[in-house]
Amino acid sequence: MKISNTTLYYPKSIKKTQLNEQPQNVQVQSFEKTNPAFTSWSRTVYLANEFGQKTRFPKNCQDTWIYRGNAKKFVKFIHDWFKDAPKINFYNFGCSNGSEAFTYVMEMDSNYEPEFLKKCTPIIARDIEPIAIKYAYFGEMELEKGEVESIVANTNGNMDKYFKLAEGEDLSDKSKMKHWYEVNPILNNNVDFQVGDALEEIEKIEPENTIVTLRNFWPYLNLHKRKELAQKAYDRLGDNGLVAIAKFDNNPFDLITADSILREVGFKPTECEYVYSKR
Ligand SMILES: C[S@@+](CC[C@H](N)C(=O)[O-])C[C@H]1O[C@@H](n2cnc3c(N)ncnc32)[C@H](O)[C@@H]1O
Repeated sequence: MKISNTTLYYPKSIKKTQLNEQPQNVQVQSFEKTNPAFTSWSRTVYLANEFGQKTRFPKNCQDTWIYRGNAKKFVKFIHDWFKDAPKINFYNFGCSNGSEAFTYVMEMDSNYEPEFLKKCTPIIARDIEPIAIKYAYFGEMELEKGEVESIVANTNGNMDKYFKLAEGEDLSDKSKMKHWYEVNPILNNNVDFQVGDALEEIEKIEPENTIVTLRNFWPYLNLHKRKELAQKAYDRLGDNGLVAIAKFDNNPFDLITADSILREVGFKPTECEYVYSKR
């Protein structure tokens, strides 16, 4: 069974209680056998092995969050690498609930000339899991204290430009580790979220002036699919094309790292950690 390639737009009227329900209008793959993503929303990362079995990543290796890993250095690298390009084709595959793409938008908007954000957007964000995309469309996001602190620190204190505390949330309630925030249009309007399988989406990318992020994502694929994806990325990208992975894609608990697979098909590491180029 395959996920349909048709665009999946969720209405903004989804209630929080409905977020973990599978949408009715999409055929959903059996994640139990292939992509061990979510049967209910969770940020947990699982490893898929050759036989489709899944094992849990160790704790502390599981979360998706705002300003994750080397996001800041990564954006600077993209800025410099494509400085002469009139348009940057920015693909964010395995985008999850949007926290990664929103981080890039905030970073570009807060710390670079306005043309840079314009050149990079809309960021094309795809996730195979409809529930993840549903979250991205929901218009609210649950943020931990540390995430809020990262936003404040990295956006010159401009938290209010990007998020607004949701109605009914009380920051003085210390029993809660996370609070719901409304996502302001400047974030949503700069990202195009849809359901999509990276292995299919990679065949549709623009080849020139292109960055494809596949971050904290490779453990979801079995070895065969990892190789297929890396080869397709190499074949499709133009000379100055880039692929970005992240910490959990090179995890020592995994049998084969994304780093070794990317090198095997011909990608070379760049001076920015976790970013690989064709040339
Ligand atoms: C741990 S999250 C990483 C989110 C984000 N990239 C980050 O670094 O924070 C991995 C995401 O990859 C998605 N995923 C797994 N297999 C996929 C595939 N074949 N195509 C697109 N997304 C996939 C999962 O549904 C999940 O949302």
